[in-house]
Amino acid sequence: MKRNEINLINNFLSTVKKVSRADINYIHEPFLNHKEKSILNDCITKNQVSAVGNYKNKFEKLIKKFTKSKYVISTSTGTSALHLALRAIGANKDHEILIPSFNFIAAANAVLYCNSTPHFVDINSKNLGIDPDYLNSYLNKISKVKNNKCINKKTNKIIYAVIPVYVFGNSYDIEKLIKVCRKFKLKMIEDSAEALGTFYKGRHAGTYGLAGCLSFNGNKIITSGSGGAVITNNKKIYEFISKLVFNGKIKHNYELIYENQSLNFRLSDLNAALGCAQMEKISFFLKLKRQLAKKYMKLFEKNNSFYFLTENANTKSNYWLNTVILDDKHINLRNKIFQKAKLKKVPIRPVWKPLHSLNYLKKYPKSKLKITNKMYKKVINLPSSAILGK
Ligand SMILES: Cc1ncc(COP(=O)(O)O)c(C=O)c1O
Repeated sequence: MKRNEINLINNFLSTVKKVSRADINYIHEPFLNHKEKSILNDCITKNQVSAVGNYKNKFEKLIKKFTKSKYVISTSTGTSALHLALRAIGANKDHEILIPSFNFIAAANAVLYCNSTPHFVDINSKNLGIDPDYLNSYLNKISKVKNNKCINKKTNKIIYAVIPVYVFGNSYDIEKLIKVCRKFKLKMIEDSAEALGTFYKGRHAGTYGLAGCLSFNGNKIITSGSGGAVITNNKKIYEFISKLVFNGKIKHNYELIYENQSLNFRLSDLNAALGCAQMEKISFFLKLKRQLAKKYMKLFEKNNSFYFLTENANTKSNYWLNTVILDDKHINLRNKIFQKAKLKKVPIRPVWKPLHSLNYLKKYPKSKLKITNKMYKKVINLPSSAILGK
């Protein structure tokens, strides 16, 4: 490696170190204190630990209030929320579901578990979300709308729905995407797993589509340990998921009757209690995260090699994972940066390997994925725990 390249990497890591702390070992750590201890204690004292309990209802109410969605169904994970939302819109073997390849694995597998086909599409580099303009021209080329259905001219399958993602908490131009959905008769489920506290034109992420899916995994902005939720304004979707989330069980005073094939995807009261304690701090977390983003913005302001990703017009990011984008000239240094960071214990992270390039997903349909392939080599996530914003 050339001297100037070594310097560039060292400078980058020492810049990140100005913000990170020796006791923070992961990209995003939870912020827990006596509040979580006391609420968990309460669960145990009251003997309320399973999926039947007051904290589950309370947690759902808190999410409902914060996101201003009509209905909330808590789930065991964000992945199960995606699976349930897809089942609720009727995804099946005749359908292709458009998802970005620049994505966590959950959506692709949820699509496959519904016997549908994932169809990978490209993103834009401004916010790492699906590019509505590109999607429009791609669908113009490969599909035709017939009897209110979008048909893939090559596979003859119905292109049924799209699952956009708020990557790292960034919003994209959702109104433009909705126009594309209307034109091509696509349903929309929003993967807002990373986006609690993200808004587009004042409306919470996940409230634009038929359903939005949240995650409360340990690394998210608030955590219930493990957990997720489907948020929706659609009563039918709510009622159907309320059954599916509990093995397909119908509501009845005493009979145990199961109406649909489904697994148990419920959130336990212990997890929900943790989530309640965390939701009390959401405004505080969002404030710290914004402060942290500002610190990074300042540090990278004059850096020509690492561009700090900021929120776009009309959007409010929760800055879940702070992100820098490596300039084209230094793409070759990507692996070296991560290797050295590991040695120096700086918890930065690369992005997921693009889904279309994973062995078991290679065979599925895809658009050109120029930006996805490029951004995979350029995106670096920075330590983003809320506490670092203090
Ligand atoms: C974009 C995205 N979708 C879905 C999920 C799945 O959430 P969970 O880990 O709670 O299953 C995650 C979580 O990492 C995610 O980042």
